[in-house]
Amino acid sequence: MKRTVFFFLGLILAVLPAKADEGMWLPSLISQRIGDMQAKGFKLSAEDVYSVNQASLKDAVVLFGSGCTGELVSDEGLLLTNHHCGYGYIQKHSSVEHDYLKDGFWALNRGEELPNPGLTVSFLDRMDDVTALVLKGYDPSMTEAQRDSVVRANSSRLAAENADPSKGLTANVEALFYGNQYFLFVFRVFRDVRLVGAPPSSIGKFGGDTDNWMWPRHTGDFSIFRVYAGKDNEPADYSPDNVPYHPKKFFKISRAGVQEGDFTFVYGCPGSTQEYVMSEQVKYVSELSDPQKIALRTQRLDIQKKYMLQDQAVRIQYSSKNASVSNAWKKWQGEEKGIKKMHTVATKQAYEARFKEWAKGTEYDGLVERLGDIYARRNPTYLAYEYYNETVRTIEVVQFASAIVARLRSGNPTKDLIDSFFKDYYQPIDEEIFVAMMTSFDENVPDSFKPEFFKELLSEYGSVESCKDLVFRGTIFTDKEKVEALTPDDLEEVSKDPAYAMYAAFYDWYSNDLAPVIRETGEELRVANRDYMRAQMEFEKDRDFYPDANLTLRVAYGHVEGYSPYDAAYYHPVSTLKGIIEKDNPDIFDYNIPQVLRDIYAQGGHEDQPVCFLATNHTTGGNSGSPVINADGNLIGINFDRVWEGTMSDIVFDPEFCRNISLDIRYLLFVIDEIGHASYLFDEMVFADR
Ligand code: ARG
Ligand code: GLU
Repeated sequence: MKRTVFFFLGLILAVLPAKADEGMWLPSLISQRIGDMQAKGFKLSAEDVYSVNQASLKDAVVLFGSGCTGELVSDEGLLLTNHHCGYGYIQKHSSVEHDYLKDGFWALNRGEELPNPGLTVSFLDRMDDVTALVLKGYDPSMTEAQRDSVVRANSSRLAAENADPSKGLTANVEALFYGNQYFLFVFRVFRDVRLVGAPPSSIGKFGGDTDNWMWPRHTGDFSIFRVYAGKDNEPADYSPDNVPYHPKKFFKISRAGVQEGDFTFVYGCPGSTQEYVMSEQVKYVSELSDPQKIALRTQRLDIQKKYMLQDQAVRIQYSSKNASVSNAWKKWQGEEKGIKKMHTVATKQAYEARFKEWAKGTEYDGLVERLGDIYARRNPTYLAYEYYNETVRTIEVVQFASAIVARLRSGNPTKDLIDSFFKDYYQPIDEEIFVAMMTSFDENVPDSFKPEFFKELLSEYGSVESCKDLVFRGTIFTDKEKVEALTPDDLEEVSKDPAYAMYAAFYDWYSNDLAPVIRETGEELRVANRDYMRAQMEFEKDRDFYPDANLTLRVAYGHVEGYSPYDAAYYHPVSTLKGIIEKDNPDIFDYNIPQVLRDIYAQGGHEDQPVCFLATNHTTGGNSGSPVINADGNLIGINFDRVWEGTMSDIVFDPEFCRNISLDIRYLLFVIDEIGHASYLFDEMVFADR
């Protein structure tokens, strides 16, 4: 009898679809998910993932800089992140003579490790639900402004009480679920972080922007740093006397490899998602914002590419800038397409119809209508603002002029800014982008939004081309010596410089015409979305809600799995060195591998060397560099991307298409050893049995 029951139960379980691996969960509340994680194969406990009483995995994960994740892999502060996260720093150390971007960089001893002023890594010390403390003194009879000042005062007090600059401890309070919950985050911030190693870009950026956001993928997207501390193991400013930091915890490395179906766990800092917004906002993103921004960036990319192909020095100067323009450009294309394919606008509208029924007679009656009305008032202005960002604010000399003037006004030195600007500035690109962007601005921003001075200027000078000449012939900001000679006494004179004047005029327009609408509707939205979030949680009592990403530490778990991008095709989840050789082509910049890699392959035996793998973890920008951990808690990969068909997961997760892409840790070991000849780094790593 019992047997038959189990038999039927087994059948039912087998036909129930596996629950989607959607979600970015809070580590401190992981005990609520650990049962599900264990059912899917995870062997560790909640305390192993996050604990304030003992060393746990969270102590081996860092926020790298201000937008990536990294992980510690040795007792001596050795840190792994992506090549594209270290890119800006590798580039800063590069010149035509020492082209570390092109050739790679390997410090042969600690003395050769390169300091990176300004780079920090932040370890999460602890996180606490402080909702009650943040709302202390608030009562529902208060106005929104009163609530706000209570929240602000309590938050700053909590942050101040929990920070300790002498120990490198910073603290801040973050709103989760649109301010229905507040968490305190305390970080230990290290300020001496040095570059240890990076593969040549032909490995670390293999496939370049051609393969970016795509599978099959073969990018060796890693770079290696080391965290340094004072002699007391506490954070310290850079000093040659600092010593490698001994972390509370570091990851052991697994060489056991991955198979389809294996449990995967990504521990990192996803930046931003909007899973709970109403249909109107999804419509705005997929039908207006994404398509317009994509079109503008296509023009900028084409212009940059043209000059980069003509000149090696320009290629180095614009490589980092070009990569960052191209990155969001491609992601938006997947997002727009994914939202349309999933009919997310219609699905959300149907959801809202059911919600409205349910909300009748409750405090949420009319809420969806209220949200719709705010978006209708906000979005045209917001679109003009996005247009301004993607046009006027992408003209380098205009931005530079404003940055220099700000420094002069505050009496701060300008030298670092001037040096870094001119190191990577190529005027013909800027001039051509000026013409393209301002032409689009003129053609596509509705007349009712366009600033008066711009219309007048255009009719006076006849064309965007002549406006460009006016700016570039008249400005001093393209002349390094003249900018260096500026002092605060020149401020009045400089305010008439055409590049600065252009910045100032558009900024005034933004401040007077756009910003007030954006601010006011933003305030209304903040409150309405807080209500809508709470209402959705009441409406769907049985759903497991996770807070939208906000660069705080999260757990995403899933499993290794391929996908079918279109009819009749299936993408297997593991790529190998064989695929690199298949793509290899000395005539195509993105696919031109180092000769040494060809030679190693020709010797044979490396065909099956794994390179990257796909999994179902819910990740987003900021998760780059995140450790990918197996069921035993050991490091199997480094997350670096998603497939473009799944980038709508920032708004809606589709288990069929949403895949994160990770570097297989065994490829990192292969490159360190065979390409970098830096296997001495293995001495400080710990290799696990599983
Ligand atoms: N798409 C990845 C991310 O969003 C990688 C970006 C860097 N790589 C590149 N080829 N641009 O950041
Ligand atoms: N490459 C992204 C990053 O820099 C991760 C890709 C994604 O958006 O998932 O964080």
